[in-house]
Amino acid sequence: MKVSEPLFEFISPDIDYQIVNGDSLKVLIGIEDGRFDLIITSPPYNVGKSYETKTSIEKYLETQEEIINQLVRALSDKGNLCWQVGNYVDKGEVFPLDIYYYQIFKRCGLKLRNRIIWYFGHGLHASNRFSGRYETILWFSKTNDYIFNLDPVRVPAKYPGKLHFKGEKKGLPSGNPLGKNPSDIWNIIANDWETAMWNIPNVKSNHPEKTEHPCQFPIELVERCVLALTNEDSWVLDPFAGVGSTIIAAIKNKRNAIGIEKDAEYCKIAKQRINDLKEGKLRVRPINKQIHKPSGKDKVSQVPKEWLQLELEKVNGKYNEKSDQK
Ligand SMILES: C[S@@+](CC[C@H](N)C(=O)[O-])C[C@H]1O[C@@H](n2cnc3c(N)ncnc32)[C@H](O)[C@@H]1O
Repeated sequence: MKVSEPLFEFISPDIDYQIVNGDSLKVLIGIEDGRFDLIITSPPYNVGKSYETKTSIEKYLETQEEIINQLVRALSDKGNLCWQVGNYVDKGEVFPLDIYYYQIFKRCGLKLRNRIIWYFGHGLHASNRFSGRYETILWFSKTNDYIFNLDPVRVPAKYPGKLHFKGEKKGLPSGNPLGKNPSDIWNIIANDWETAMWNIPNVKSNHPEKTEHPCQFPIELVERCVLALTNEDSWVLDPFAGVGSTIIAAIKNKRNAIGIEKDAEYCKIAKQRINDLKEGKLRVRPINKQIHKPSGKDKVSQVPKEWLQLELEKVNGKYNEKSDQK
C-alpha cells in the first residue's frame, strides 16, 4: 500500500458522511422524514459562549423547540435521540436544562429510556454552591420498538468470578462473559485539559482530542451511544456538530453521519479531524480506557509543604484560629 492511500481500516469506503456549514433549522427543513436512527448532540446552553448570543431562557427554549420538531420528523421509527446538557445559570441561580427539555420532547411524543448521569469528576471549583461534576444525557426513543444493542457496550465486571449460590446453576458463573451493563452513570473523562490533573505541563495542548472549540464532548461518550443505539450502516445526525466529535464516533464505527454546524472555522477543524482519522493520525482516547488514578507519588497528589507547616503550627498552638475563619 502506498503511504498516500487512505487507510480504510479506519473508515470503511462504504460509509458516507457530510459536514454541512449552515443554520440547523434551515438545513433540517430540507432533510427527508425518518432518515436517522440516531440524533445525538450537545446543543448550545445559552450561557454566553463565543458561539452563542445569550437570551432569556424562554426565548432560547422556543428556538430550540422549532429545531427539535424538525429533528423528531427526521428520526426513524426505530430511532433514538440523545440530548446532552448541563445547566443554564442566571445571576447564580441554576436551571437544569434537561428538566426544561424533557417537556419539549414529551410534547413531541418521544419516550424517555434513560436519564444518564455523565460524571466527569473534575472541573471548575464553585464558591457559592457545591462544584458541578456531572451533566446529563436524555435518551429518548421515537417508539417502543427501538434499536438497543447492549453487548457492544458492556464493561468489565468488577467480580467476574461470582458464582450462582443456589438453584440449578449453583456453582456456575452468574455474570455475562461479555461484561456487565454500563448502567446509567457514566464516568467518562471530560475536558481534563482544563485541569492539571495529570501533572503534565500544558495539559490542554497535550490532550489527545483537544481542539480550539470551547466545549467539545469526548468521542468516547458518543461512541457508547452509537454502538448501543444504532446498527452498522445506520445514519447518525448531530445538528450542533462543533468540531465533528459525533461524526468521528459514527464513521469510526461504520455508521453514516451528517453534522450541521454554523461556524465555518469549526467545520474546517471537523473536516481536518476526519482526514486525520482516515490517515490513522487522529489522537482519540480509547473507549473504556481506565481513568487515571493518582499514585500518591505524583507531586500534585501530595500535601503542599506550606500546609504541613500550618498543621504543625496548629498542633503547637501558634495557629490563629480567627485568621482561618475569614
Ligand atoms: C456545545 S457545542 C457542540 C460541540 C460538539 N459536541 C463537539 O464535540 O465539537 C454547540 C455547537 O453548536 C453550534 N451552533 C449553535 N447554534 C447553531 C445553529 N443554529 N445551527 C448550527 N450550529 C449551531 C455552535 O457553533 C457550537 O459549535
